[in-house]
Amino acid sequence: MVAGTKCESLVRYALVDCDPGVDDALALTMGFASPIFRYDAVTSVHGNVSARLAYRNARRFVSFLRDHLESSVPDVPVYPGATLALDGSRMSRSESRLIHGPEGMGAMFDDKRRLRRLGRGSSKPAWEVIVEQAASRGSALTIITLGPLTNLALALRRAPGVFSRVKRIVVMGGAARMPGNVTPAAEFNIYCDPLAAKEVFSSGLPVTMVGLDVTRRALLHVDEFEGGGSFRAALRDLIKVYARFSRKRRDAGDITLHDPLALAVAMKPDLVKTVSCRVDVDTSKGIARGMTLVDLRENRGSRVKNPVDVALDLDVKRFLTFFISHLRKYRGWE
Ligand code: BDR
Ligand code: CA
Repeated sequence: MVAGTKCESLVRYALVDCDPGVDDALALTMGFASPIFRYDAVTSVHGNVSARLAYRNARRFVSFLRDHLESSVPDVPVYPGATLALDGSRMSRSESRLIHGPEGMGAMFDDKRRLRRLGRGSSKPAWEVIVEQAASRGSALTIITLGPLTNLALALRRAPGVFSRVKRIVVMGGAARMPGNVTPAAEFNIYCDPLAAKEVFSSGLPVTMVGLDVTRRALLHVDEFEGGGSFRAALRDLIKVYARFSRKRRDAGDITLHDPLALAVAMKPDLVKTVSCRVDVDTSKGIARGMTLVDLRENRGSRVKNPVDVALDLDVKRFLTFFISHLRKYRGWE
C-alpha cells in the first residue's frame, strides 16, 4: 500500500454551490473553520444576486475568510455558474436587495479594507466542475446547495452516471409543512428554478432536503455579533441589512441561519430528524409555482420511488452551539 493511501481514503470532500447572500457567507464561514470537510471548489449561481455578483462575492469572501483563519486553508477556487433558471426565467431581485443588501453582502464591503484580494476564480463553468468533482471524489464527496439548483441540475443532465457514487446531496430549500417565504407556497431557492429542483429531487440520488421546517427554527440572536475584534465587526456589517429586515418583518432581534444549517447538517447529520418520502415540485407558472409537494402520508414505506430525506425536526441548541464554536476559530472574532 502506498504510504498515506489509507488516510486519503478517509478524507471527506465537500462542494458548496451558493448565491452569496448573507446566510450563504455565514455558511462558508462555519464550513471553512472545520476540519470535517476538505473543499476543492465553491461554485456560484444566480439567486439572491445576479450570477456575476454571486461569483464576485464568493471570491471576495473566500479570500477574506482565508485571511482570518488561524490554520492555513487552501486557496479554494470559485467557479461561475448559471445566470438564468433552466426555463430561461429570471427572478426579480427587489426583495432580495432588502434582505441581503444592494450587492448581496449587507454592509460588509462598504469598508474597502476588506476588499484587499479577490480570491481564485476560473473560466470553467460550475456545472463542469460539479461533474469533475463527482467523478474524481465519488463516495468521498458531499454536495451542498445553498441557492437555486440550476448548476446541479445542469451537471446531472450532462453526466447522470457519475453521480451514483456521490455520498450525499444536501439541499437548502423547500418546505414540507410550512408556508413558503417568497410566496405562500414556495421557498426562495426552489421558486428561483422549480424545474431544476424537480430534476434533483426525482433523481433517485441520496438527497437531504433542509427546508423551512427546520431552518425557520435556526435563529441566532444578533447580540452574538456584538463586541469582539475586527473579524466580528466585519460579520456585524455583513448581517446589518439582513437583521434589519428580520426586525421589520418579524419584530425579532435574531437572524435566520438557513444556509448554515444546511451545511451543518452535511457535517453533522444527527442535528436533524428526517423522514424519507417523495418530493415533487410545482413547475407551473401558477400560484403554486416552486411549491415542494412532500408526500407525508403514512404507510408509504418502501413503496416510495426516488425518496428524499426531508428534515422535519432540529436540535436548535446543539446547532447554534456548533455554529458559534466555528466562528470563534477566526482571528479577530474575540
Ligand atoms: C434561502 O433563500 C436565500 O435568500 C437564502 O440565502 C437561503 O438560501 C432561504 O429561503
Ligand atoms: Ca442562499
